[in-house]
Amino acid sequence: MTSNELRNKYIEFFVSKNHKQISGKSLIPENDPTVLFTTAGMHPLVPYLLGEDHPAGKRLVNFQKCIRTGDIDEVGDPSHLTFFEMLGNWSLGDYFKEDAIKMSYEFLTSSEWLGFEPDKLSVTVFEGDSEVPADDESAAVWRSLGIPDERIYFLPREDNWWGPAGATGPCGPDSEMFIDTGKTACGPDCRPGCHCGKYFEIWNDVFMQYNKQEDGSYVPMSRKCVDTGMGIERTVAMLQGKSSVYETAGFVELIEQVEKISGSKYGTDDITDVSIRIITDHCRTSVFILGDEQGVKPSNLGQGYILRRLIRRAIRHGRKLGIEGSFLPELGSLVIDQYKQTYPELEKSRESIIKELAAEEERFSLTLQKGEHEFEKLLPNLLKSKNPIIPGRMAFKLYDTYGFPFEITEELAAEHGLKVDKAGFDKAFEKHQALSKQGADKVFKGGLADNSETTTALHTATHLLHKALRIVLGDHVQQKGSNITPERLRFDFIHPEKMTPEQIKEVEDLINKQIKDDLPVSMEIISLEQAKEKGALAFFSDKYDEQVKVYSIGDFSKEVCGGPHVSSTGSMGYFRIKKEQSSSAGVRRIRAVLEHS
Ligand code: ALA
Repeated sequence: MTSNELRNKYIEFFVSKNHKQISGKSLIPENDPTVLFTTAGMHPLVPYLLGEDHPAGKRLVNFQKCIRTGDIDEVGDPSHLTFFEMLGNWSLGDYFKEDAIKMSYEFLTSSEWLGFEPDKLSVTVFEGDSEVPADDESAAVWRSLGIPDERIYFLPREDNWWGPAGATGPCGPDSEMFIDTGKTACGPDCRPGCHCGKYFEIWNDVFMQYNKQEDGSYVPMSRKCVDTGMGIERTVAMLQGKSSVYETAGFVELIEQVEKISGSKYGTDDITDVSIRIITDHCRTSVFILGDEQGVKPSNLGQGYILRRLIRRAIRHGRKLGIEGSFLPELGSLVIDQYKQTYPELEKSRESIIKELAAEEERFSLTLQKGEHEFEKLLPNLLKSKNPIIPGRMAFKLYDTYGFPFEITEELAAEHGLKVDKAGFDKAFEKHQALSKQGADKVFKGGLADNSETTTALHTATHLLHKALRIVLGDHVQQKGSNITPERLRFDFIHPEKMTPEQIKEVEDLINKQIKDDLPVSMEIISLEQAKEKGALAFFSDKYDEQVKVYSIGDFSKEVCGGPHVSSTGSMGYFRIKKEQSSSAGVRRIRAVLEHS
């Protein structure tokens, strides 16, 4: 079975179980500063898992492109990928454990659907601890379906618990499904979750049934939700009888291309294989980031930095394989061909994806060799010294002069059995006030968006701002992006020139008037078509579902949005613009706060 067939079957199965298909979203999360990328299908659904009504109802299904850069250092082994597609089905206060597990089992084992042999299936459930009891309910459902006790594993929190990523919020036990690949167990403790390759995890059913409180206690929730995630690449590997995602059809095609360009052969030795896997994985991820609806470019900050790291690491491994010329554009083009039907945004931006890959390759190729040469000059002395650590200032020089992301220097060092002085690097770095690499790391962790009152009020404020800007500056103003933390909002919009102090004051006054008037905020669920007819703003992403939520703030603003928002504007605070600056060509950026006296 191919990825396309699996994707279609999954949707078809859950639609037949009364789920509504909703569209996947951009890889760049909207209004969630806690993560750089969408890391799971549930991510864009967080407001609904927290209690908002979803316009499509209580049973949802979709496929979602995901990036997990936390796994970046593990890429190279046979199972980790930085980009993957996740299939998911959700119950928002509808069915719970019994139906979720029964549907999972039917889809996995029925010959009409995936047809996995029930004997090959092992499952895990939460074993319980001092705070939350064991998930005996899930185990009982699995047992009722015929899974014997020896294939139901009770595992601790680190294996079988999901969320909250922040301090508080919905969370609960999960139940993971594994296919036994038939490999001999690596030892007496080998079990699902062991990395030896015997058990391959393909699906996770999360049961959100507790709300973790600030005092650390878990309060059962009255509206329980189910969130599931099935990895397409991994499941396809199992369906095609392979032991690695890299042996599946799509990857084989990419690997053959690398073999052709480099003259090396996959399967020759571990070092070659690792490089080939890194190149194919990173190229695929880079194409999806570059081709995302929100089009990120390589840079030294945030998502752009991750993109740069991925592209440069792929290039370095290309050089290790002996590829001298440019190779990423050609490989990237093949990735676009493979995915253009499912993700038309890739074809739409084919030209710019290829151009960016080529440009970044050209930039880095110029300095890579010089940087490596510089590094090698240091080696003999370092290897002789008692404490062989690459000094932070050297790592910084490689970064600053030769464009080596810190992690590439780390990898290069590790190849010679050396470590890098990270603290020294950070110090040199701070001095130069460049990118905060730690900042980028912190946001990899992922998790639930914040839904505090302050954040919600700032979200409503972005709607007021969007409308006020259109009134003051003109209808050419369109939202290009938004990012909210509990402290401030950041809003990017199309406008060709710097705003004057008078315009800024006018926008502030207009917004503060709406706040003072205590306008009611209301929501209706209508079709996208109707929303547009009513003049609702809907620019942000071109991926909308058929039915959408439209939020109105009095008669002042009307916008398509997932929510949540305050119920009326009166107590939002005093709106103040802190900064207005350029974000990129033709795009301005505003930072604003809500002050409470
Ligand atoms: N959100 C869950 C996961 O990603 C389903 O595993």
